Amino acid sequence: MKVNICAPKCRAIFLLLAVIVSIVILHNMNDLKVRTWSSTIFTQRVSTNTSMHQAVCTYQPLSTEDAVEASLLLDSIAWPETPPSPAPVSLEQTSDPAHSTFTVLPRKGGGQWHVGDQLEVMIKIYDFKGSPRKSGGDFLIARLHNQKLSAGVAGQVVDHLNGSYSAVFSLLWEGDAQVEVTLVHPSEAITVLQRLNQEHPDRVYFKSLFRSGSESETTTCNVCLPPTQQPLCNYTDLHTGEPWFCYKPENLSCDARITHAVGGYDLNITSMEKKLFQSNVNMKVSIRASESASVNVLPNKSGKNSIVKSGPSGYYYQGVWKSLGGTTVRQFKTPSDITQCLKGKVVHVYGDSTIRQWFEYLTAELPDLKEFNLHSQKQGGPFLALDYTNNIMLTFRCHSTPLRITDFPTRELRYIANELDNLVGGANTVVAFTIWAHFGNYPMEFYIRRLQNIRRAVVRLLDVAPDTRVIIRTGNPKELNFMGALTNSDWYSLQNDKVLRAMFKGLNVHLVDAWEMVLAHHLPHNLHPQPPIIKNMIDVLLTYICPQKETTET
Ligand SMILES: *[C@@H]1O[C@H](CO)[C@@H](O)[C@H](O)[C@H]1NC(C)=O
Ligand SMILES: *[C@@H]1O[C@H](CO)[C@@H](O)[C@H](O)[C@H]1NC(C)=O
Ligand SMILES: *[C@@H]1O[C@H](CO)[C@@H](O)[C@H](O)[C@H]1NC(C)=O
Ligand SMILES: *[C@@H]1O[C@H](CO)[C@@H](O)[C@H](O)[C@H]1NC(C)=O
Ligand SMILES: *[C@@H]1O[C@H](CO)[C@@H](O)[C@H](O)[C@H]1NC(C)=O
Ligand SMILES: *[C@@H]1O[C@H](CO)[C@@H](O)[C@H](O)[C@H]1NC(C)=O
Repeated sequence: MKVNICAPKCRAIFLLLAVIVSIVILHNMNDLKVRTWSSTIFTQRVSTNTSMHQAVCTYQPLSTEDAVEASLLLDSIAWPETPPSPAPVSLEQTSDPAHSTFTVLPRKGGGQWHVGDQLEVMIKIYDFKGSPRKSGGDFLIARLHNQKLSAGVAGQVVDHLNGSYSAVFSLLWEGDAQVEVTLVHPSEAITVLQRLNQEHPDRVYFKSLFRSGSESETTTCNVCLPPTQQPLCNYTDLHTGEPWFCYKPENLSCDARITHAVGGYDLNITSMEKKLFQSNVNMKVSIRASESASVNVLPNKSGKNSIVKSGPSGYYYQGVWKSLGGTTVRQFKTPSDITQCLKGKVVHVYGDSTIRQWFEYLTAELPDLKEFNLHSQKQGGPFLALDYTNNIMLTFRCHSTPLRITDFPTRELRYIANELDNLVGGANTVVAFTIWAHFGNYPMEFYIRRLQNIRRAVVRLLDVAPDTRVIIRTGNPKELNFMGALTNSDWYSLQNDKVLRAMFKGLNVHLVDAWEMVLAHHLPHNLHPQPPIIKNMIDVLLTYICPQKETTET
């Protein structure tokens, strides 16, 4: 499957890229000759520069086609150039939300605002000394809302690369609408985040316990390990080629590995860089309006019903998520509504704790859907719930490494792609997955590769069982503290999200847009969104499984 990001006329670029990729591959093959322990799948290169102890990892794609796609994807998510790191500047010269402002622009063509109009806001960023910023690259988010109506919609932010930004909103409800603009990170912080993923992907490290008889040892593990005298255990998955390594224990064999766990966090940044990640100062802080932040929206002019084309995927009205993608989100108000929809179905849920919330929600809501005690690890499962009366089976499985989890049995580690390859599928089978929150610290290539593997499996599954319902939950913005920002910033999630959407575009899969569903909601951002948001996600999920019979599209 190809991602549709190339117009016919850019075929030449495509060709050029293919050539470049071949050169890169050839270049790496030269490396391989020198370092015999390297592989075509996974290459570790050691710098002779003694001040650089870190191994430089290249997360090589599986094929030239994958490599070309990866480089196109990387180009498509390229962030505006940000100042060099370590920044030669002082904090005073970086973006300061307290000095920055936004202005609601007057309606194009004049007159009053109506439902169906587009509202534009101009945002001007200033530094801590009050001087206007001259370059772009700040990460901003924007939302339009009405607390009383429990209405909200995400805005689209455009970077003009000169210190000013626009946020564009669709006006979707009648009445008051208030603009909210937030600086998530100044551009200098993005530079740090980018550098950390290139230089210190192992700032989140993992460990495994090995045991045999009375002997046990713990060693460090990761996608990529700095070379030492210690030999490696190679747990690279034979089917998908997903890399994973641990240092070999001194006295035990590689087969004696029994658990996988997060080892800890090792943040390597300077004190100047630290200042770029301060809650209440320059990390996820609101920007104020220069004048009024609100507009009053009148009913739409009859006949005119223009929703912006590249606009939001949906919005909240009275706390209920309305989709703008052409599907009317159904309301599953009672447990029996949900049961009716799931009757006779097998629902497999794969991923991280953010989709485990779906499993938890459904088992809590449906009295007849009983969780079977598999004595599993509490965070990672696997979990199983059954409703015998209605023949419903619901399962959850985590997405395997690089899961940040405590003592998880290695024998329960499964890659999503492999799980999908073991499904029969069909009209009674629902597959829902998410994969994002544990990938923040790695170079994007690693995430792309993982998604390529999953997509191949999705394509194979839909090929043999086209009626299988495949639903993908996207990532979402979360609360940011210092540690959280450096290992799983919203910026990483945003970049991953763009790749995820591009990767599955054009396939018969459905997205639950957790990104916008959290961004548009009045509840604070949370890695694990609160129940009112989960309820809306479940309604979207169930709508995909059981769409409305009659087509009552407006
Ligand atoms: C790890 O194992 C994979 C799969 O067998 C193999 O292709 C690769 O060369 C190995 N890598 C290293 C560094 O030994
Ligand atoms: C080694 O790396 C450091 C830090 O990246 C750099 O400043 C220095 O110039 C490098 N030395 C050599 C000999 O490449
Ligand atoms: C920045 O660029 C935008 C879009 O081109 C323009 O409207 C705005 O006036 C510019 N701002 C400055 C300060 O140059
Ligand atoms: C391995 O075994 C040797 C000899 O019994 C012992 O000295 C050493 O401490 C062991 N290493 C570890 C890491 O347990
Ligand atoms: C940070 O990185 C530098 C250079 O790679 C290294 O010398 C130093 O020990 C690291 N500090 C920490 C706390 O890891
Ligand atoms: C606009 O008004 C028409 C007629 O009153 C109505 O059918 C339509 O749903 C409205 N559109 C929006 C976006 O509210």
